[in-house]
Amino acid sequence: MLALFLAFSLALSGCNSKSEKSSGNKKEEKKLEIFSWWTGAGEEDGLLALLELFKEKYPDIEVENAAVAGGAGTNAKAVLATRMQGNNPPSTFQVHGGQELNASWVAAGKMEPLNDLYEQEGWMDKFPKDLIDMVSVDGNIYSVPVNIHRSNVLWYNKKIFEENNLQVPTTFDEFFDVAEKLKAKGITPLALGDKEPWTATHIFENVLLAKLGPDGYNALWSGELSFDDPKVKESVEIFGKMLSYVNEDHSSRNWQDASQLVAKGEAAMNIMGDWAKGYFVNDMKLKVNEDFGYVPTPETDGYFMVVTDTFGLPKGVKNADDVKKFLSVLGSVEGQDVFNPLKGSIPARIDADMSKYDQYGKDTMEDFKNSKLAPSLAHGSAAPEGVLTRVNQAVNIFVTQKDVKQFIDALKTAAQDL
Ligand code: GAL
Repeated sequence: MLALFLAFSLALSGCNSKSEKSSGNKKEEKKLEIFSWWTGAGEEDGLLALLELFKEKYPDIEVENAAVAGGAGTNAKAVLATRMQGNNPPSTFQVHGGQELNASWVAAGKMEPLNDLYEQEGWMDKFPKDLIDMVSVDGNIYSVPVNIHRSNVLWYNKKIFEENNLQVPTTFDEFFDVAEKLKAKGITPLALGDKEPWTATHIFENVLLAKLGPDGYNALWSGELSFDDPKVKESVEIFGKMLSYVNEDHSSRNWQDASQLVAKGEAAMNIMGDWAKGYFVNDMKLKVNEDFGYVPTPETDGYFMVVTDTFGLPKGVKNADDVKKFLSVLGSVEGQDVFNPLKGSIPARIDADMSKYDQYGKDTMEDFKNSKLAPSLAHGSAAPEGVLTRVNQAVNIFVTQKDVKQFIDALKTAAQDL
C-alpha cells in the first residue's frame, strides 16, 4: 500500500515538475533577451533608459538585460559566436553595422531581413542612406541602428591646457610639441588603457585615417591599397611615437580607467570614441566644454570615423514579434532620444530632437552631415572579424616591441583575409 502511494505521489510530482518545466520553458521562450556589452561605467545608462521606455510601452513583455562586460565587445562577441553557432541566439543582439553584421551573421544566413519593419515604420528616409547601406546586403536590411558614435575624437582636460598655456593640437607636429611640454612638466600627455588591446587599435586607425584620408583608409580595407604604402609606414611611425607619451600602467587599465586619468587631471588627453563623453558626464560628473573639451583627432578635421551600434532579428527566435516591437522602439525618435544623450552618441535618425543633446551632441550632428565618412576597423565595420582579431594582436605586439617592419608584415598577413 505504502509502495503504491509512493509510486503514485512520485508520478504526480513527476507530472508536476514536468508541467512546471514546460510552463517555465514557455516563459523562457517569451522572455526578450537583449544582448550587448553595455555594462558599467559610461556604458549602461543609455541602455537602461531604453529598456525603461520599452517597459512603459510594453509592460507585458518580460525583458532580460543579457549584457556581457568588456569594452568593444571584447568578451561579448565570443559568447555571441558560441550561441549563434549552437543555434541558441539571444532574441536580439548588439552588432556593429558593416562587416561585423554582414560578413559574420548575414553571410552565414543567421539573420532575418527587416525590410517590412522599415516600410511599416516609415524608416526608409529617416536613417541616412550611408547607414542603411552599412546594414544591408543585396537590398535586404538586416538591423536597426540605435546610434552613431564618432571614433576620431581627442578629449582633453581643459584645466591642464589652460594652466600650462597650451593650444589643443590639430596636427601631429603640434601634438608632439604639446606632448613634450607636458612631459617636461611631469604630466602624462596621452592616456591609454590597452588591457583590452582594441583601444590601441583605435588610436592606430585614427592615425591611418589622418594620413591616408577616408579614400585611402577605405581602400586599405577593401584590399585596393597595399599596407606597403609609404603612408601606412608614416602612420605606424607616428603611432609608435605617440606610444612614448602614454601612462606607464597602460596595460593594466581599460578605456574607462584611462579616461579617468584625463577626468582627474592626471593625464592631458585621450583618443577615444564618444562613449567617453557618456563616461565623463554620467560617471565623472564633468561638464562639457568646462571641465573637458574635444576636437577631432589631429589631421582628421572634416573626417568622421563611424561606429554604429545596431540590433537585428536572428533567425529561429521564438518571439520574433516581440523583437520587432523592441526594434520599433529602438528605432523611434523617442527611443533614440532617450538612449543617445546618455550614451554620448548622436541619434542614427535624422529627425531627432536636437534640444535633447548637449553642445557636443549638436556639434557632432553637424559634423556628421558635413564630413567624409569612414567605417571603423576597431569597432567592426571596416573588415571581417578575423582580420580585426589579427590586427588587434599585431597592434598589441607593436605596443611592446615597437618593431615597424614586423608590424607592417603582420598587417599584410591580416589583410590576406580581406
Ligand atoms: C564600441 C561600441 C560602443 C561602446 C564602445 C566601448 O564598440 O560601439 O557603443 O560601447 O565599444 O565599449
